[in-house]
Amino acid sequence: MIRCDRTAAWAALQGHYQAHGRDLDLREAFARDPGRFAAFSQEAPEIFADLSKNLIDTATEHFLLDLARECGLEARRDAMFAGQPINTTEGRAVLHSALRAPRGAGLVSDEVHDVLDRVLALAEQVRDTASSGFTDVVNIGIGGSDLGPAMVVPALDAFAHRGLRLHFVSNVDGHDIVPVLRGLDARRTLFIVASKTFTTQETLANAQVARAWFLQQGGTDIARHFVAATTNVTAAAAFGITQTFGFWDWVGGRYSLWCAIGLPIAIAIGADNFRALLAGANAMDQHFAQAPLAQNLPVRLGLLDLWYRNFHGFSSRSVAPYHQGLRRLPAYLQQLEMESNGKRVDVDGALLPFGTSPVVWGEPGTNGQHAYFQMLHQGTDVIPVEFILVKTPAHAEADLHRKLLANGLAQSQALMLGKTAAVARGEKAPTASPMLDPDVLAAHRSFPGNRPSTTLLLDTLTPRSLGALIALYEHRVFVSGALWGINSFDQWGVELGKALAGELLPRLGSGDVVGLDGSTAGLLQRLTR
Ligand code: F6P
Repeated sequence: MIRCDRTAAWAALQGHYQAHGRDLDLREAFARDPGRFAAFSQEAPEIFADLSKNLIDTATEHFLLDLARECGLEARRDAMFAGQPINTTEGRAVLHSALRAPRGAGLVSDEVHDVLDRVLALAEQVRDTASSGFTDVVNIGIGGSDLGPAMVVPALDAFAHRGLRLHFVSNVDGHDIVPVLRGLDARRTLFIVASKTFTTQETLANAQVARAWFLQQGGTDIARHFVAATTNVTAAAAFGITQTFGFWDWVGGRYSLWCAIGLPIAIAIGADNFRALLAGANAMDQHFAQAPLAQNLPVRLGLLDLWYRNFHGFSSRSVAPYHQGLRRLPAYLQQLEMESNGKRVDVDGALLPFGTSPVVWGEPGTNGQHAYFQMLHQGTDVIPVEFILVKTPAHAEADLHRKLLANGLAQSQALMLGKTAAVARGEKAPTASPMLDPDVLAAHRSFPGNRPSTTLLLDTLTPRSLGALIALYEHRVFVSGALWGINSFDQWGVELGKALAGELLPRLGSGDVVGLDGSTAGLLQRLTR
């Protein structure tokens, strides 16, 4: 691949940004072009995307698509799907898409479907609560072995088994596992120890606490009550877990909810719904693999991300799912995007002269509106917002849902339209001080507008549409990472802290601060005296 900043299209984009891009006004753009909504919207499997409230015009997209072609994005994408070792620092293929390919269709279909069949068979056994006796399932895992299932299970609550409670324990902080265990009956609980490597300190420590608790409670059949999802079956066996579900080094942790790591999802929603989740993701894979770049939603979104990060200089993006079930989506996306693209060197190890991953953050609407939207509307930074709206809810409270949708639409409208000082001046604000100069008040009550947003629209939140949505995000992260010339599939940045924690752990027992920096020594002394 050619790195984005070494292309002719990059230079063209710089010129375009200076001449038009920087000053594009969305209100004028809509007034000028009645076809803007159609031109900047995109149908993809299960998802309609409105990109028209973004700071782009036809020329911007034209130059961005040139950039994608010049960088060799299509060849890079094809290399991923073909199983080439594009994760160069670990010498691994990146084949999470093969996890959702139909039987017989993927590169590694036999092994994938063998494990999938076993995972789904166990899920169905557990779901048969009359004979399994289980009422609670505790997933112990962290990062990619937690965030995907912890996001999907509440999102698909409408499809969930009503006789089973799913719990997620991730943090090595005992305040996570202790309250969960308090409410459990050992005879009726299944623990899933989820760890790609089976070496992660937090997960092993929590698994040990769970096992000790289980035995203390009189539990006897560890083989039935503890299962593992891991690539390291030997380490799981050494821990005493005999029922294991394997996966492979070509599945990145943050891309692993589609395989054995998805066991809690399969238990919650059942085999057929889990297969629908995979089918939705597969439909998005096909779209990404085959749609022309100009009508390819992951490509258009990835290019937009690059445009905002590298030309407008926006360093963050807010995600606002207007669906309470998607409350863990921002946390899931933080790992997906920031662990993948939070890199400062390119694949050749050269320091990058431009920004990479934005900060991704957010909360479900409308809650976020009553917390940080103030800053989105009137703060000094421009932060593109991504709204996710679902047309038909899984409940019968139609009035609540209309209010939810009205709010989602209103926020993107308000961000774009803003309010001039003249309009603000003409309004009577009941809570405004009558003592204040009207111009000063108008300055406080006006909105600059022209703040960009994307709206993703789903008909209903189903296993299939959620699968497509997650795969859309995976591929979009791939697109920006590929254009930036980075390896989106390693995560060396988490290693240093892990190693230092290992060195500090015995010092927390002994109080020894010899050789530590002054701040860490001072803090450790306060913690141990
Ligand atoms: O935080 C780093 C990380 O390696 C993530 O990439 C991964 O998802 C997480 O730890 C958990 O790792 P494992 O599944 O091996 O326990």
